[in-house]
Amino acid sequence: MYILGIETSCDDTCAAVLKDSQILSNIISSQIDLHKVWGGVVPDIAKRAHQDRILPVIDTALKRAKINIKDIDLIAVTKGPGLAITLSVGVNTAKEIVIKYHKKIVGVNHIEGHLMANFLTNSQGKPKRPFIFPALALTVSGGHTKLILINKIGNYKVIGETLDDAAGEALDKSAKLLGLGYPGGPVIERLAQKGNSSFLKLPSPIADKKILDYSFSGLKTAFYYQIKDWPKNKINKHLSDLAASFQMAVFDTLLRKFTLAIEKYQPKCLLISGGVAANLNLRKRTRELAKKYQLPLYLPFKKELNTDNAAMIALAGYYQSQRGDLANPQNLDVDSRAEL
Ligand code: KG4
Ligand code: ZN
Repeated sequence: MYILGIETSCDDTCAAVLKDSQILSNIISSQIDLHKVWGGVVPDIAKRAHQDRILPVIDTALKRAKINIKDIDLIAVTKGPGLAITLSVGVNTAKEIVIKYHKKIVGVNHIEGHLMANFLTNSQGKPKRPFIFPALALTVSGGHTKLILINKIGNYKVIGETLDDAAGEALDKSAKLLGLGYPGGPVIERLAQKGNSSFLKLPSPIADKKILDYSFSGLKTAFYYQIKDWPKNKINKHLSDLAASFQMAVFDTLLRKFTLAIEKYQPKCLLISGGVAANLNLRKRTRELAKKYQLPLYLPFKKELNTDNAAMIALAGYYQSQRGDLANPQNLDVDSRAEL
């Protein structure tokens, strides 16, 4: 089956073509340059950029895959969660294509897309990853931080999530406090590599061992209060140490709750995905955790499959269509707060 995926839930305009789980093309037009001057995503600017870019991005995805739109069997588009006004650009474009070319369509949940990113393969069908259930997934991005138990594809239970900021959002906000650029996660990662992670002592949010939920806003506030009276030159002198300390506090929390969930639910396989999972330190620590519990660990096979992309949406759509969960284009609507 040939699937065209479309993703516009935030600030990346994305289209991809898959043959079943194999990526034939995966085009990501990032808007970081448009938003970084504002220190974060501006929804109106994002919407206009998506409108300008979506058709050329789809066209490039088809060309690079060497597939004619007529040979596409299914259109998979993100319906939510995300920014309503940017999601609607993708959904409306998908509907127009579906009506014009008489295609089937599915509305995909963005978080399910992040879970499916772990099962994407290259054009040779590699890496081969058997489904092993129950699997426990940690999805960490700019918009969400969730622990998800996967009983089978399409059957998900959120067993823990953030009560306030997402992990990526916390990294972005701390980077902003330090006067670094947007998005903060990659900048913090680069600085943290040469910093001392025990330089600042930061709290461990929600220490209660029975609770699998996360909280990051207190961590960000504690960080702020520790450095708010520091002169600029002191902050600049210790930039790497501050980045390393904050990153360590965020990852300690992520992995503490991940460990609790492993012990409680005894999964047979671990997954980690979402923008923050592009971080090499988090990947290394997650590998160590998986080794300790002797569990297979699946990470997206390429760095760019952690952050938002349409290949993951296409794969989620492929499995959704196999479950018979197709949409009627007339009734397909954006659901900016869609639950998994
Ligand atoms: O999955 P994603 O592209 O978009 C959402 O669905 O939110 O994730 C974006 C988030 C941002 O907060 C960004 O700072 C973070 O992922 N991020 C990283 C890294 N690359 C992106 N965080 C830590 N280390 C990275 N290398
Ligand atoms: Zn995302």
